Amino acid sequence: MLKKIIFLGLLNFTHTALIAQTKTTPIYLDESKPVEDRIKDALSRMTVEEKVRMLHAQSKFSSAGVPRLGIPEFWTTDGPHGVRAEVQWDEWDQAGWTNDSIIAYPALTALSATWNKQMSWNYGKAIGEEARYRKKDVLLGPGVNIYRTPLNGRNFEYMGEDPYLTSIMVVPYIKGVQSNGVATSVKHYALNNQEMFRHTSNVKLDDRALYEIYLPPFKAAVTEGDSWTIMGAYDKYKDQYASQNQYLLNDILKGEWGYKGVVVSDWGAVNNTEQAIKNGLDMEFGSWTNGLSAGTSNAYDNYYLAKPYLDLIKSGKVGTKELDDKVTRILRLAYKTTMNKNKPFGSVASEEHIAVAKQIGEEGIVLLKNDNNILPIDANKVKSIAVIGENAIKMMTVGGGSSSLKAKYETLPLDGIKSRFGKQTEVKYARGYVGDPGGEYNGVKSGQNLEDKRSEKELFNEAIALAKSADVVIFVGGLNKADFQDSEGNDRKSYNLPYNQDKLIQELAKANKNLVVSLVSGNAVAMPWIKDVPSIVQTWYLGSEAGNSLASVLAGDANPSGKLPFTFPVKLEDNSAHQLGEYPGNKEELAAGKGKDQQNPINITYNEGILVGYRWHDTKKIKPLFSFGHGLSYTTFEFGKVKADKTTISQNDKITFTFTVKNVGKVAGAEVAQLYITDVKSSVLRPTKELKGFEKVYLKPGEEKEVKITVDKAALSYFDADKHAWVAEPGDFEALIGNASDNIKTKIKFTLK
Ligand code: BGC
Repeated sequence: MLKKIIFLGLLNFTHTALIAQTKTTPIYLDESKPVEDRIKDALSRMTVEEKVRMLHAQSKFSSAGVPRLGIPEFWTTDGPHGVRAEVQWDEWDQAGWTNDSIIAYPALTALSATWNKQMSWNYGKAIGEEARYRKKDVLLGPGVNIYRTPLNGRNFEYMGEDPYLTSIMVVPYIKGVQSNGVATSVKHYALNNQEMFRHTSNVKLDDRALYEIYLPPFKAAVTEGDSWTIMGAYDKYKDQYASQNQYLLNDILKGEWGYKGVVVSDWGAVNNTEQAIKNGLDMEFGSWTNGLSAGTSNAYDNYYLAKPYLDLIKSGKVGTKELDDKVTRILRLAYKTTMNKNKPFGSVASEEHIAVAKQIGEEGIVLLKNDNNILPIDANKVKSIAVIGENAIKMMTVGGGSSSLKAKYETLPLDGIKSRFGKQTEVKYARGYVGDPGGEYNGVKSGQNLEDKRSEKELFNEAIALAKSADVVIFVGGLNKADFQDSEGNDRKSYNLPYNQDKLIQELAKANKNLVVSLVSGNAVAMPWIKDVPSIVQTWYLGSEAGNSLASVLAGDANPSGKLPFTFPVKLEDNSAHQLGEYPGNKEELAAGKGKDQQNPINITYNEGILVGYRWHDTKKIKPLFSFGHGLSYTTFEFGKVKADKTTISQNDKITFTFTVKNVGKVAGAEVAQLYITDVKSSVLRPTKELKGFEKVYLKPGEEKEVKITVDKAALSYFDADKHAWVAEPGDFEALIGNASDNIKTKIKFTLK
């Protein structure tokens, strides 16, 4: 009996001791401890093998944690317009889950066209909530590569040609996403400004263009947005791949900008262990794949930052300094995402998400032209509407490359128009042409069958006959997400609309004078028919709510307030990269067959330097088809005379410009007041004007508001490559206020001492 009591007593003692032991939480798991201490503690417990395992993928979209220590895996996902459907562990094919459909949000070009920071925050918060619900830790986006040529197949995923607009618009998106404990991965850093030769080119440009045009959005994303990760690009800069690039990653990002986050490679962008170790890359994804379709089974142990790295460490050829730095950064990311106990749970397809998608669509649509006030269409007056064009019935959320989505639903333009106008007005449809009947991307099927066996002529004639019989014609065309259109991996082959749409539009204009052309695209296109078409609407790719957003603008339920985030040149040669340029690369090298593989890269020199987009058109006086910042409204706004709070400022001063904007029309609307700065006289070439501030103002009919925009030296400076510093030269400047880069309403001079 005594023995038994002693035994039980002993058991009890061991049990209590065990509990006491487990109660002492190790520092790395102790939330009361500072994060940097927790990181040090975690590092001290990890083996070299465990550390190396954290640096590279373990599947197409995930990387390992430290199972022994309970440090979770990371799950990444594309990005940037919605959360991508699940793919198989080691294949790009669909995993076939039935719980992975989501809301598709408008493309980033549309978001940028809202010129509304609040929309960007709403977008980020909503997509972040969906990512969180889908248990993702890193959203691969947003994209901020500058629009250099209208042929770039991926422009639709970016935010346009202006570094200032892009920098302002990207920050709230990042903050919105990350408020969910989900990291963004701003991409593609840097100089991936075309798809052609993206894996096989070396970009050359001067430092001034690099710092003034191409880097600012990335800088804003990491210094102001605090994006917890950033994705390196595929191309080379200074003959080194961007994802393992000493200049871009170590010198600029981690050096000059003091970045403490994680650099992830683009998928398959790494190809040298030593450079990957030393030049600032932290995590490697997608190696031995072309990033999209080809793969080798379970190549993960052979990644450049896997066994080859471990072997170098074990043989003593490289130390562990870089390894610890990389793991430190990854653990920092873990504490904000996977190990963050305070993050929300997220949600998918909530009413708020749907409303966000619809509103961004409405605010992003740009009314390019509206002669005779053809728009808005009054459903009570118009008896019949002819809708014509393939894009009225084609799903656009599937396709385009890695941003392709499995949307819960997508309201097509024709459906949106029918549901808005159909009760009062007869809505009839004719396709007019067959473009791309396909509807599948990497196994996500749109479910649409758009095959049409009728001849080109039959389709054409049917459309013209219908146009003749209707009161109003709405042509919904443009580009699509098929290869060589708005799609990853290739550039467009021509600046003109594909599938003979130009001819159709021209004939529609003859058939009916009330023609509205609605262009679904993420790029500028040629408009040889412009003089004959009274109304043109730039509609972008608007995601799940596409048809509803469009119908709402056509009907005037939403008054258009979008402004172009890039210039539409009349013809391709008017664009600076094409006129001076090297596009798609150096001509002689192109002729010699360079760029075909990574052993023979092609050089692309950005001869146009800082003169990108409107900076080029303004400075060289080349009239565009539509200017940067252009966009009409159903109402009219008047700008009051601008005043400044000083006439002279010193280098450390700020200056505030004040002016009024008044809605003098009959309906409520919003105007984007844009502030451009001109350096009147300069010792170096300066663009005629540069955007340095803007404010979107909502006004009821008759209402007037005062707008104040403050700038400092940064708005007056250029990047002096010799000094490697921003310089504001003393002298006269002008502040120009307008509602488009080619429509300045009021201006004022001031002097910098
Ligand atoms: C694209 C990235 C994308 C990644 C993963 C790459 O091909 O360039 O933008 O995030 O694939 O799908």
